[in-house]
Amino acid sequence: MSNKQRVYVITGAASGIGLVTKQLLESRGHRVIGADLHNAEVIADLSTAPGRAALVNQVTSISGGAIDAVLAVAGVDINGPLTVAVNYYGAIATLEGLRPLMLTSDSPRAVAVSSITSVHPFNEQLLNAMLEGTETLALEKAAEEKFVYATSKRALSRWIRRNALKAEWAGANIPLNAIAPGLVKTELLQRLFDEPETRKRIIAGTPMPLGGPFEPSAAAELLAFLAGPENGHITGQSIFIDGGADVVIRGDATW
Ligand code: NAI
Repeated sequence: MSNKQRVYVITGAASGIGLVTKQLLESRGHRVIGADLHNAEVIADLSTAPGRAALVNQVTSISGGAIDAVLAVAGVDINGPLTVAVNYYGAIATLEGLRPLMLTSDSPRAVAVSSITSVHPFNEQLLNAMLEGTETLALEKAAEEKFVYATSKRALSRWIRRNALKAEWAGANIPLNAIAPGLVKTELLQRLFDEPETRKRIIAGTPMPLGGPFEPSAAAELLAFLAGPENGHITGQSIFIDGGADVVIRGDATW
Protein backbone atom coordinates (compact mmCIF):
# COMPACT_ATOMS: atom_id res chain seq x y z
CA MET A 1 0.00 0.00 0.00
CA SER A 2 1.36 3.44 -0.89
CA ASN A 3 2.47 5.87 1.79
CA LYS A 4 1.27 8.82 -0.27
CA GLN A 5 0.24 11.85 1.74
CA ARG A 6 -3.54 12.21 1.79
CA VAL A 7 -5.83 15.10 2.64
CA TYR A 8 -8.52 14.33 5.22
CA VAL A 9 -11.37 16.51 6.47
CA ILE A 10 -12.58 15.78 10.00
CA THR A 11 -15.56 17.49 11.64
CA GLY A 12 -15.63 17.61 15.43
CA ALA A 13 -11.84 17.87 15.27
CA ALA A 14 -11.45 20.05 18.38
CA SER A 15 -12.23 17.33 20.92
CA GLY A 16 -12.56 13.62 21.70
CA ILE A 17 -12.67 11.08 18.86
CA GLY A 18 -12.26 13.74 16.14
CA LEU A 19 -9.20 15.29 17.79
CA VAL A 20 -7.46 11.96 18.42
CA THR A 21 -8.17 10.82 14.84
CA LYS A 22 -6.70 14.07 13.53
CA GLN A 23 -3.57 13.55 15.64
CA LEU A 24 -3.25 9.93 14.48
CA LEU A 25 -3.50 10.80 10.79
CA GLU A 26 -1.09 13.72 11.16
CA SER A 27 1.39 11.45 12.96
CA ARG A 28 1.28 9.27 9.83
CA GLY A 29 2.24 12.24 7.67
CA HIS A 30 -1.17 13.16 6.28
CA ARG A 31 -2.76 16.58 6.06
CA VAL A 32 -5.92 17.05 8.11
CA ILE A 33 -8.32 19.95 7.73
CA GLY A 34 -10.20 20.06 11.02
CA ALA A 35 -13.64 21.66 11.33
CA ASP A 36 -15.45 22.52 14.53
CA LEU A 37 -17.22 25.30 16.43
CA HIS A 38 -13.85 26.44 17.82
CA ASN A 39 -10.13 25.48 17.82
CA ALA A 40 -10.11 24.29 14.23
CA GLU A 41 -8.88 25.36 10.82
CA VAL A 42 -12.48 25.65 9.62
CA ILE A 43 -14.97 27.20 12.02
CA ALA A 44 -18.49 26.08 11.07
CA ASP A 45 -21.69 25.40 12.98
CA LEU A 46 -23.08 22.21 11.44
CA SER A 47 -26.47 22.68 13.08
CA THR A 48 -27.34 25.43 10.59
CA ALA A 49 -27.59 25.70 6.80
CA PRO A 50 -25.19 28.68 6.64
CA GLY A 51 -22.68 26.78 8.82
CA ARG A 52 -22.87 23.73 6.55
CA ALA A 53 -22.34 25.95 3.48
CA ALA A 54 -19.40 27.62 5.25
CA LEU A 55 -17.83 24.19 5.82
CA VAL A 56 -17.96 23.36 2.12
CA ASN A 57 -16.76 26.81 1.01
CA GLN A 58 -13.87 26.96 3.45
CA VAL A 59 -12.71 23.40 2.82
CA THR A 60 -12.87 24.03 -0.93
CA SER A 61 -10.73 27.12 -0.61
CA ILE A 62 -8.21 25.70 1.90
CA SER A 63 -7.76 22.41 0.01
CA GLY A 64 -7.71 23.93 -3.46
CA GLY A 65 -10.76 21.82 -4.28
CA ALA A 66 -9.27 18.35 -3.84
CA ILE A 67 -9.42 16.05 -0.80
CA ASP A 68 -9.13 12.29 -0.28
CA ALA A 69 -11.50 11.52 2.59
CA VAL A 70 -14.26 12.94 4.74
CA LEU A 71 -14.84 11.95 8.37
CA ALA A 72 -18.13 13.24 9.79
CA VAL A 73 -17.41 12.97 13.52
CA ALA A 74 -19.09 16.04 15.08
CA GLY A 75 -22.00 15.20 17.35
CA VAL A 76 -23.88 16.18 20.49
CA ASP A 77 -26.02 14.30 23.00
CA ILE A 78 -28.72 16.62 24.25
CA ASN A 79 -32.32 15.47 24.21
CA GLY A 80 -33.65 18.00 21.72
CA PRO A 81 -33.60 19.40 18.17
CA LEU A 82 -29.91 20.39 18.23
CA THR A 83 -28.95 16.72 18.38
CA VAL A 84 -30.92 15.96 15.21
CA ALA A 85 -29.55 19.07 13.47
CA VAL A 86 -25.91 18.15 14.16
CA ASN A 87 -25.86 14.34 14.31
CA TYR A 88 -28.06 13.66 11.30
CA TYR A 89 -28.43 16.71 9.05
CA GLY A 90 -24.96 18.08 9.86
CA ALA A 91 -23.33 14.71 9.13
CA ILE A 92 -25.20 14.25 5.85
CA ALA A 93 -24.43 17.81 4.74
CA THR A 94 -20.76 17.10 5.48
CA LEU A 95 -20.73 13.86 3.47
CA GLU A 96 -22.77 15.15 0.54
CA GLY A 97 -21.27 18.64 0.51
CA LEU A 98 -17.66 17.45 0.46
CA ARG A 99 -18.20 14.42 -1.82
CA PRO A 100 -17.48 16.36 -5.06
CA LEU A 101 -14.05 17.35 -3.71
CA MET A 102 -13.07 13.66 -3.54
CA LEU A 103 -13.72 12.86 -7.19
CA THR A 104 -10.13 13.40 -8.29
CA SER A 105 -8.69 11.24 -5.49
CA ASP A 106 -7.33 7.81 -6.44
CA SER A 107 -8.84 6.36 -3.24
CA PRO A 108 -11.72 8.51 -1.98
CA ARG A 109 -13.39 7.43 1.29
CA ALA A 110 -16.19 8.65 3.56
CA VAL A 111 -16.93 7.66 7.17
CA ALA A 112 -19.36 8.94 9.79
CA VAL A 113 -19.59 8.27 13.51
CA SER A 114 -22.85 6.58 14.45
CA SER A 115 -23.19 4.85 17.83
CA ILE A 116 -24.20 1.69 19.68
CA THR A 117 -27.32 3.71 20.51
CA SER A 118 -28.35 3.15 16.87
CA VAL A 119 -29.65 -0.23 18.10
CA HIS A 120 -31.23 1.17 21.28
CA PRO A 121 -34.94 2.00 21.65
CA PHE A 122 -35.91 4.78 19.28
CA ASN A 123 -38.83 6.95 18.22
CA GLU A 124 -40.41 5.75 14.99
CA GLN A 125 -42.11 9.04 14.09
CA LEU A 126 -38.91 10.96 14.53
CA LEU A 127 -36.98 8.36 12.51
CA ASN A 128 -39.47 8.62 9.64
CA ALA A 129 -39.38 12.41 9.77
CA MET A 130 -35.60 12.27 9.34
CA LEU A 131 -35.55 9.63 6.61
CA GLU A 132 -38.65 10.68 4.65
CA GLY A 133 -39.65 14.18 5.81
CA THR A 134 -38.05 17.59 6.05
CA GLU A 135 -35.55 18.97 8.53
CA THR A 136 -38.18 21.41 9.83
CA LEU A 137 -40.56 18.54 10.60
CA ALA A 138 -37.81 16.44 12.20
CA LEU A 139 -36.70 19.32 14.44
CA GLU A 140 -40.32 19.86 15.55
CA LYS A 141 -40.65 16.17 16.43
CA ALA A 142 -37.30 16.19 18.24
CA ALA A 143 -38.60 18.93 20.51
CA GLU A 144 -41.48 16.70 21.62
CA GLU A 145 -40.16 13.14 21.56
CA LYS A 146 -37.89 10.89 23.64
CA PHE A 147 -34.88 8.85 22.45
CA VAL A 148 -33.68 11.72 20.24
CA TYR A 149 -29.95 10.85 20.33
CA ALA A 150 -30.51 7.13 19.65
CA THR A 151 -32.94 7.96 16.84
CA SER A 152 -30.50 10.42 15.25
CA LYS A 153 -27.82 7.72 15.14
CA ARG A 154 -30.21 5.04 13.85
CA ALA A 155 -31.22 7.43 11.05
CA LEU A 156 -27.57 8.15 10.23
CA SER A 157 -26.65 4.44 10.00
CA ARG A 158 -29.71 3.80 7.87
CA TRP A 159 -28.89 6.76 5.58
CA ILE A 160 -25.44 5.31 5.05
CA ARG A 161 -26.83 1.89 4.22
CA ARG A 162 -29.38 3.37 1.79
CA ASN A 163 -26.89 5.62 0.04
CA ALA A 164 -23.70 3.55 -0.12
CA LEU A 165 -24.73 1.66 -3.25
CA LYS A 166 -25.87 4.70 -5.22
CA ALA A 167 -24.09 6.05 -8.30
CA GLU A 168 -22.74 9.00 -6.27
CA TRP A 169 -20.95 6.66 -3.86
CA ALA A 170 -20.33 3.06 -4.98
CA GLY A 171 -20.66 4.22 -8.58
CA ALA A 172 -17.89 6.76 -7.97
CA ASN A 173 -15.76 4.16 -6.13
CA ILE A 174 -16.27 5.83 -2.74
CA PRO A 175 -16.76 3.43 0.17
CA LEU A 176 -19.27 5.01 2.59
CA ASN A 177 -19.38 3.62 6.13
CA ALA A 178 -19.90 4.42 9.78
CA ILE A 179 -18.36 3.29 13.00
CA ALA A 180 -20.72 2.60 15.89
CA PRO A 181 -18.81 3.01 19.14
CA GLY A 182 -19.86 1.89 22.60
CA LEU A 183 -18.83 4.13 25.49
CA VAL A 184 -15.76 6.19 24.68
CA LYS A 185 -13.97 8.27 27.31
CA THR A 186 -14.50 11.78 25.93
CA GLU A 187 -15.98 15.04 27.14
CA LEU A 188 -19.33 14.05 25.65
CA LEU A 189 -19.50 10.95 27.86
CA GLN A 190 -18.08 12.77 30.89
CA ARG A 191 -20.85 15.39 30.66
CA LEU A 192 -23.45 12.60 30.78
CA PHE A 193 -21.61 10.71 33.55
CA ASP A 194 -21.60 13.86 35.73
CA GLU A 195 -25.26 13.11 36.44
CA PRO A 196 -25.32 9.88 38.55
CA GLU A 197 -28.75 8.67 37.37
CA THR A 198 -27.81 9.19 33.73
CA ARG A 199 -24.51 7.41 34.32
CA LYS A 200 -26.33 4.38 35.77
CA ARG A 201 -28.79 4.32 32.85
CA ILE A 202 -26.03 4.57 30.23
CA ILE A 203 -23.90 1.80 31.75
CA ALA A 204 -26.94 -0.49 31.99
CA GLY A 205 -27.99 0.33 28.39
CA THR A 206 -24.56 -0.36 26.89
CA PRO A 207 -23.02 -3.44 28.53
CA MET A 208 -19.43 -3.88 27.29
CA PRO A 209 -18.12 -7.31 28.39
CA LEU A 210 -14.84 -6.84 26.50
CA GLY A 211 -12.91 -4.18 28.37
CA GLY A 212 -15.63 -1.63 29.18
CA PRO A 213 -15.47 2.03 28.15
CA PHE A 214 -12.34 2.77 26.13
CA GLU A 215 -10.04 5.55 24.98
CA PRO A 216 -10.81 7.46 21.76
CA SER A 217 -7.59 6.15 20.18
CA ALA A 218 -9.29 2.78 19.54
CA ALA A 219 -12.08 4.48 17.59
CA ALA A 220 -9.50 6.61 15.78
CA GLU A 221 -7.63 3.51 14.50
CA LEU A 222 -10.84 2.12 13.01
CA LEU A 223 -11.80 5.45 11.46
CA ALA A 224 -8.33 5.75 9.96
CA PHE A 225 -8.65 2.29 8.42
CA LEU A 226 -12.11 2.92 6.95
CA ALA A 227 -11.00 6.32 5.60
CA GLY A 228 -7.71 4.99 4.25
CA PRO A 229 -6.74 3.40 0.93
CA GLU A 230 -6.62 -0.01 2.69
CA ASN A 231 -10.43 -0.09 2.73
CA GLY A 232 -11.44 -0.75 -0.84
CA HIS A 233 -14.34 -3.12 -0.32
CA ILE A 234 -16.27 -2.40 2.89
CA THR A 235 -19.27 -0.19 2.21
CA GLY A 236 -22.70 0.58 3.66
CA GLN A 237 -21.69 -0.80 7.05
CA SER A 238 -21.84 0.48 10.59
CA ILE A 239 -18.91 -1.28 12.24
CA PHE A 240 -19.51 -1.80 15.94
CA ILE A 241 -16.55 -1.03 18.16
CA ASP A 242 -18.29 -1.57 21.43
CA GLY A 243 -16.70 -4.28 23.59
CA GLY A 244 -19.51 -6.65 22.61
CA ALA A 245 -22.48 -4.41 23.42
CA ASP A 246 -24.20 -5.08 20.09
CA VAL A 247 -23.85 -8.83 20.64
CA VAL A 248 -25.44 -8.49 24.08
CA ILE A 249 -28.26 -6.28 22.78
CA ARG A 250 -29.10 -7.95 19.45
CA GLY A 251 -27.76 -11.47 20.02
CA ASP A 252 -28.44 -13.79 17.09
CA ALA A 253 -30.72 -11.30 15.30
CA THR A 254 -27.87 -10.03 13.16
CA TRP A 255 -24.18 -10.75 12.39
P1 NAI B 1 -16.75 15.45 22.07
O1 NAI B 1 -17.78 16.28 22.74
O2 NAI B 1 -15.44 15.24 22.75
O3 NAI B 1 -16.47 15.99 20.58
C1 NAI B 1 -17.51 16.39 19.73
C2 NAI B 1 -17.04 17.58 18.90
O4 NAI B 1 -18.10 17.95 18.01
C3 NAI B 1 -16.72 18.81 19.78
O5 NAI B 1 -15.43 19.32 19.47
C4 NAI B 1 -17.82 19.79 19.41
O6 NAI B 1 -17.43 21.16 19.47
C5 NAI B 1 -18.16 19.36 17.97
N1 NAI B 1 -19.49 19.87 17.61
C6 NAI B 1 -20.61 19.80 18.37
N2 NAI B 1 -21.60 20.48 17.78
C7 NAI B 1 -21.10 20.99 16.62
C8 NAI B 1 -21.64 21.80 15.60
N3 NAI B 1 -22.89 22.28 15.67
N4 NAI B 1 -20.84 22.14 14.57
C9 NAI B 1 -19.56 21.71 14.52
N5 NAI B 1 -18.99 20.94 15.46
C10 NAI B 1 -19.76 20.59 16.51
O7 NAI B 1 -17.46 14.05 21.81
P2 NAI B 1 -16.98 12.66 21.19
O8 NAI B 1 -17.36 11.62 22.16
O9 NAI B 1 -15.62 12.73 20.66
O10 NAI B 1 -18.03 12.55 19.98
C11 NAI B 1 -17.64 12.37 18.62
C12 NAI B 1 -18.73 11.56 17.92
O11 NAI B 1 -18.79 10.27 18.50
C13 NAI B 1 -20.14 12.14 18.08
O12 NAI B 1 -20.81 12.03 16.84
C14 NAI B 1 -20.76 11.26 19.12
O13 NAI B 1 -22.17 11.22 19.01
C15 NAI B 1 -20.12 9.94 18.78
N6 NAI B 1 -20.14 8.91 19.81
C16 NAI B 1 -19.54 9.13 21.04
C17 NAI B 1 -19.56 8.14 21.98
C18 NAI B 1 -18.94 8.32 23.35
O14 NAI B 1 -19.18 7.46 24.22
N7 NAI B 1 -18.15 9.34 23.57
C19 NAI B 1 -20.19 6.84 21.72
C20 NAI B 1 -20.75 6.71 20.40
C21 NAI B 1 -20.72 7.71 19.50
